[in-house]
Amino acid sequence: MTAAKMKWTCGLVPTSCYKVADEPADLLHPSSKPKKPVSTQTSFHRLSLSDLSNPNSTLSEDLSISLKGSNLHAFTLAEMRVITQNFSSSNFLGEGGFGPVHKGFVDDKLRHGLKAQSVAVKLLDLDGSQGHREWLTEVLFLGQLRHPHLVKLIGYCCEDEHRLLVYEYMPRGSLENQLFRRFSVSLSWSTRMKIAVGAAKGLAFLHEAEKPVIYRDFKASNILLDSDFTPKLSDFGLAIDGPEGDETHVSTRVMGTEGYAAPEYIMTGHLTAMSDVYSFGVVLLELLTGRRSVDTTRTKREQNLVEYARPFLNDARKLTRIIDPRLEGQFSEKGAQKAAALAYQCLSHRPKTRPNMSTVVKTLEPLTAFDDASIGTFVYTAPPQQQHEKPGYRPRTPPPRSPVNRQSDSDRNRRREVHKNVMNSPLHSGVRRR
Ligand SMILES: Nc1ncnc2c1ncn2[C@@H]1O[C@H](COP(=O)(O)OP(=O)(O)OP(=O)(O)O)[C@@H](O)[C@H]1O
Ligand SMILES: [Mg+2]
Repeated sequence: MTAAKMKWTCGLVPTSCYKVADEPADLLHPSSKPKKPVSTQTSFHRLSLSDLSNPNSTLSEDLSISLKGSNLHAFTLAEMRVITQNFSSSNFLGEGGFGPVHKGFVDDKLRHGLKAQSVAVKLLDLDGSQGHREWLTEVLFLGQLRHPHLVKLIGYCCEDEHRLLVYEYMPRGSLENQLFRRFSVSLSWSTRMKIAVGAAKGLAFLHEAEKPVIYRDFKASNILLDSDFTPKLSDFGLAIDGPEGDETHVSTRVMGTEGYAAPEYIMTGHLTAMSDVYSFGVVLLELLTGRRSVDTTRTKREQNLVEYARPFLNDARKLTRIIDPRLEGQFSEKGAQKAAALAYQCLSHRPKTRPNMSTVVKTLEPLTAFDDASIGTFVYTAPPQQQHEKPGYRPRTPPPRSPVNRQSDSDRNRRREVHKNVMNSPLHSGVRRR
């Protein structure tokens, strides 16, 4: 499947809703910038943030016209109030870095032709860490990309300083909530693999688009689940166009979430699609173990999931010790071995030896079956990096099994000491700590 293409033409812009500049201050207070018309672009390609980032120009296109082919609705603030019953607390779904999320409802009484459906409305917290840039990035990417494994953006609101996003409602919330919430029913093996395959397909679609996209924020809380557990990627605020032509990577300020961001990206700021593959490996580990990527309630040695789990992944006998006890043994052993070997490869320190997302999809697809016989014989081939990565590696005695799901929601806000020096450099000012 390829990205939906659309034609965009010059139009009028809502007065406070225009061009992204490099300085965050300009983004957060766009009305302080002089409004200049930009050159008309009529080419038939996906409009991206870089198309709008000429510091000498402002985005004068009305997004509702620019993104016409996407059928996005540009709602007014008054309409948003109707949709969410004035952001009533009874409709509150949760809150992340962007701001609060409320459930709402739209139908054609609100806008002609609008399908009657539940929606989730994200409201930018004007005092929060994100701003106009993340909002615009999200509108541009999700407004133009359509895929069964990407959450559908229905519309947006851009009025004065207010920025909102309206998505299809995902009844089962985030994978994070389903996997780690203390009183949630445990996800079955097949469901976990279904989620892994679907999310992998979403990433593969982004990486293989005509104009490739690096998602940059792949994590359990950004994978939303439909009523039948079909996963969809949400939160495109950090997404970025992939390298073009002869470029091998994109150089950026490091942004993302601790515990999921690839080590080479954290160290150098060099971003490739393989950074997403690493993050996918982390989520695959979370699905296999039922443990969070970073869990400060555990003993020091078990706090970082990747470091803790890596030695178990290539040993069939040891692997069962780290499989989520909430599965109560109801999983395919061969499937778990294959998935663990795949996670190991995705988490390689050498980005070039990580598999691409299409390979990940192909490897995972047969694993949704619970029946070992249907998965076939498992043959693990140790990737060459094994020797390079762990010189003198000795298998460690596995730690005693700890109870899962001890982490409370407040842990999300706890600061971690790991990588402290690196993380505190200006290059890393965008890394979110959990
Ligand atoms: N389309 C949606 N349908 C249903 N629930 C949603 C939807 N979008 C977000 N939510 C819920 O809203 C809450 C906040 O989501 P949000 O994406 O803003 O933050 P987050 O992913 O938890 O954190 P972060 O800021 O790090 O991405 C989550 O609990 C999520 O399940
Ligand atoms: Mg999110």
